[in-house]
Amino acid sequence: MPAQLMDGKALAERIRREVAEEVEQLGEVGLTTILVGDDPASEIYIRRKQEAAKEVGILARDYRLAEETTEEELLDLITQLNADDKVDGILLQLPLPDQIDEQRAIEAVDPAKDVDGFHPLNAGRLWLGLDGLVAGTPTGIITLLDEYGVPLEGAHAVVVGRSNIVGKPVALLLLARNATVTICHSRTADLAAETRQADVLVVAVGEAGLISPEMVKEGATVVDVGMNRTDEGLRGDVDPAVAERAGLITPVPGGVGPMTIASLLRNTVKAARARRC
Ligand code: GUN
Repeated sequence: MPAQLMDGKALAERIRREVAEEVEQLGEVGLTTILVGDDPASEIYIRRKQEAAKEVGILARDYRLAEETTEEELLDLITQLNADDKVDGILLQLPLPDQIDEQRAIEAVDPAKDVDGFHPLNAGRLWLGLDGLVAGTPTGIITLLDEYGVPLEGAHAVVVGRSNIVGKPVALLLLARNATVTICHSRTADLAAETRQADVLVVAVGEAGLISPEMVKEGATVVDVGMNRTDEGLRGDVDPAVAERAGLITPVPGGVGPMTIASLLRNTVKAARARRC
């Protein structure tokens, strides 16, 4: 029997309606996005984030800086936004052009406004199991797993990919839910041997079709974070044939992607609430 699809689009819509109500209660909530340069994929992501924010009543400001922007210019803008009381959340779209030190820019954002959860203070709070702002994609994945009643306590969760944006934080969130977590990466000796152990398999590598059916345990829950533009269109990191073996699987598109944006909106409300206390 083919896997049941985990519909991130439908769940994200529901979350957006909840966020809209919270925004109405709070009054003004402000999110500022910054895009440096003209990477086409980043432009699409920013457009979606802006549209989603506006739809729920968040005041969304959209800074577009030229490709040749200097680090100093970007840091000046971030400093200004940090001091602006109308700005609850700052989202700096990555990647940044080469002349800008990405880590320096991330660390310039006020941790209280860091709705991406990329600042070392928020990443460190996640590591320690303390409350803070957590990146949108990992948070969205856990919300989606909960929606479908996937048991995490005692489950063997295997995460493929160790990025700061997805792999590492999702591994920590799974650990916080008492899963036994394995993190795999490009130097893992026998990837298939690891992934076959997974009750819950999260794949965030950026390689179309990396996970084939024989790498997946029958009935496993599979979360595909991949968004790979190929000649055949948008493809995930998981071969579509895996749906014949898995119990639950996220589609691409319409699985994790919409959840990332919904979590960003939730984070913006969370930051706004915390700043008003
Ligand atoms: N680039 C790729 N994913 C993300 C994300 O979630 N947030 C930001 N700011 N940049 C990204």
